[in-house]
Amino acid sequence: MVTITNIAYLIAAVLFILGLKNLGSPKTARRGNLLAMLGMLLAIVVTLLDKSILDYTYIIAGMVIGAAIGAVAAKKVEMTQMPQMVALFNGFGGIASAFVAYSEYIHHGGHVFAMDTSITLVLSLLIGMVTFTGSMIAFAKLQGLMTGAPIVFPGQKWLNGLLLLAVVVLGVMFTMDASLEVTLIVIVAISAVLGVLSVIPIGGADMPVVISLLNSYSGLAAAATGFVLSNNVLIISGALVGASGIILTQIMCKAMNRSLANVLFAAVGTADSSGTSKSTEKKTVTEYSAEDAALVFEAAQSVIIVPGYGLAVAQAQHVLQELAELLEEKGIEVRYAIHPVAGRMPGHMNVLLAEANVPYDKLVEMDDINDDFQNTDVVLVIGANDVINPAARYKKDSPLYGMPILNVDKARSIMIVKRSLSPGFAGEDNELFYDQKTMMLFGDAKKMVTELVKEVKEL
Ligand code: TAP
Repeated sequence: MVTITNIAYLIAAVLFILGLKNLGSPKTARRGNLLAMLGMLLAIVVTLLDKSILDYTYIIAGMVIGAAIGAVAAKKVEMTQMPQMVALFNGFGGIASAFVAYSEYIHHGGHVFAMDTSITLVLSLLIGMVTFTGSMIAFAKLQGLMTGAPIVFPGQKWLNGLLLLAVVVLGVMFTMDASLEVTLIVIVAISAVLGVLSVIPIGGADMPVVISLLNSYSGLAAAATGFVLSNNVLIISGALVGASGIILTQIMCKAMNRSLANVLFAAVGTADSSGTSKSTEKKTVTEYSAEDAALVFEAAQSVIIVPGYGLAVAQAQHVLQELAELLEEKGIEVRYAIHPVAGRMPGHMNVLLAEANVPYDKLVEMDDINDDFQNTDVVLVIGANDVINPAARYKKDSPLYGMPILNVDKARSIMIVKRSLSPGFAGEDNELFYDQKTMMLFGDAKKMVTELVKEVKEL
């Protein structure tokens, strides 16, 4: 039975790896999901066939309740709320690992714990609890239940360092004498505080990095628990989540042009964290109607569409693609410029536009399209704001400072579709709205693009 279990676990691990590989491209992502799901199903079924399970009552009850919550969440949660949901899932993953590891300690009566198992138990509790409370704070920030701005106080880094040191000392004490259950309880409590303290100083535009880092932590916690249980598939899947989470964290850091240390410790954006612009200067904007905008399109040969969070909120992707096709029929070259942190989750714009059947070769990554803006007649910005904000280039106290942006300001003319002049996620006013070559098309993205389609058809 042990051999069959291990062979099944091996097949599951191969399916996880193939799944991850396929998730690397939008074309194969669906297959990737399917393969990874198959792997997980196999791992769960084989684990449930384990002979040491005496009673299935709690397992079945847990599975039914968990599956019901998961199914309702998957149906109800909007795409724009995905980061919060991922934060919750990461947190639950963390605490589940901590619970399982602790229950294994109780199951073994504590004192018979080997030293290597003790070390991984401490790691599992530390990482699991940090992931849990850190993710709950990230969830509260993203959901608007608490301020999204960095919360800092004097001596914060020292306190974090001290708490970590305390966990290490208690961890060493526990590995020397596994009967000291009280040390484990204190480790759980300190780790929970550490999770809160390490996420509160991070805010604004840095949240995507934190979410992917917590995702990586949840994998590491699972892998540590896998060592406690001597369960190979948990070790492998945890390591895969940990590694892919850290790769995604690196990609996000690169997109923000920041180091991980800078994201974690610099508390960028503390100076102006009100979420609204403090500028009182009176500036004028040029407002256009859909009819005026259609005339501008008529004279254009090239158009770059810049999608952002507002496109997702308005669910305007289908009608936007209809507009793009209309423009192409008129001989205009149309492409989409994709910023790595546009929207609210990695790959958000790709997923949204794939849903509207936009051909993949029309989606161009920021680095590949940024030099082309200067030769482009019209840039059509739909519900994007931070990813085009020139303040990122020079305004040192801005939460956006240093983040590479799409060079929209270099284009010959700019159309921006949004409902008002309010700032984006980072709370930074956008000077592009007041630029002489900018036409503001105020309104809900779906409504405005529908009007644009109508006007372009009538040309
Ligand atoms: P944002 O800077 O958030 O701007 C979105 C704009 O969409 C808003 O200014 C809003 O203006 C407009 N909008 C909202 N609803 C709309 C609607 N129904 N119709 C038309 N416009 C609408 O978006 P972005 O440019 O995509 O930048 C993303 C930001 O989110 C970055 O700061 C990024 O760091 C952060 N973030 C990203 C992620 C990931 S991983 N992608 C995760 C968390 C946070 P109005 O209110 O005036 O309409």
